[in-house]
Amino acid sequence: MKIIVSKNGPYLVEGGVPLIWEEICNDDEGYCRKWKEVTRYPIEEKYALCRCGHSMNKPFCDGTHEKIQFNGTETAGNESYLRHPKVVEGKTLKLEDVENLCVHARFCMRAGAIWNLTRQSDIPEARETAIEEACNCPSGRLVLHDKGNGQVIEPELEKSIVVIEYPVRNEHGPLWVRGGIPVVSGDGKSYTVRNRVTLCRCGKSGNKPFCDGSHVEH
Ligand code: FES
Repeated sequence: MKIIVSKNGPYLVEGGVPLIWEEICNDDEGYCRKWKEVTRYPIEEKYALCRCGHSMNKPFCDGTHEKIQFNGTETAGNESYLRHPKVVEGKTLKLEDVENLCVHARFCMRAGAIWNLTRQSDIPEARETAIEEACNCPSGRLVLHDKGNGQVIEPELEKSIVVIEYPVRNEHGPLWVRGGIPVVSGDGKSYTVRNRVTLCRCGKSGNKPFCDGSHVEH
């Protein structure tokens, strides 16, 4: 399985990667809490996903990128930002935070927010909630380490691509690439393979091919 970022065009997906549409659901207090699977598309060996944001057949490409002369220049560079995260230390957890990967899924805000929960991670309930929040972060902005065994805490994710929608706020989120599927740039360079990454599908990111939250109007 792999995803090729074509020059000024769509993502070319190969290897029969499952494609799923999921929605972010709020809890009764208005915090993002759960993922809901809405549609599982029939498995295709190859397909092309829109990254310009203008297809009339989303999430698939319909060729509109050519008509609008989409500039899809990749600017994510060598990803040195992954090596310099902000670090929050707690008693039992360490949080790494790469802020410019935020896609505004907002799972991290509940119960005092993940930064405070990490600092209070000697309290079992705070620790458990911090882990749930980090594992729901689709982009891998937030990564927790267990200070007891030194291991990274990562969710087990099916190799798949999820089209993220957030109907409560009418936000159309990025493509969530799960389970360590390689993403290859237009010039053949492989990006760092991670369990969770999110790809821009609105065309506005300043960190292409990755989402930087630009789909959200502020
Ligand atoms: S990338 Fe082809 S229509 Fe958007």
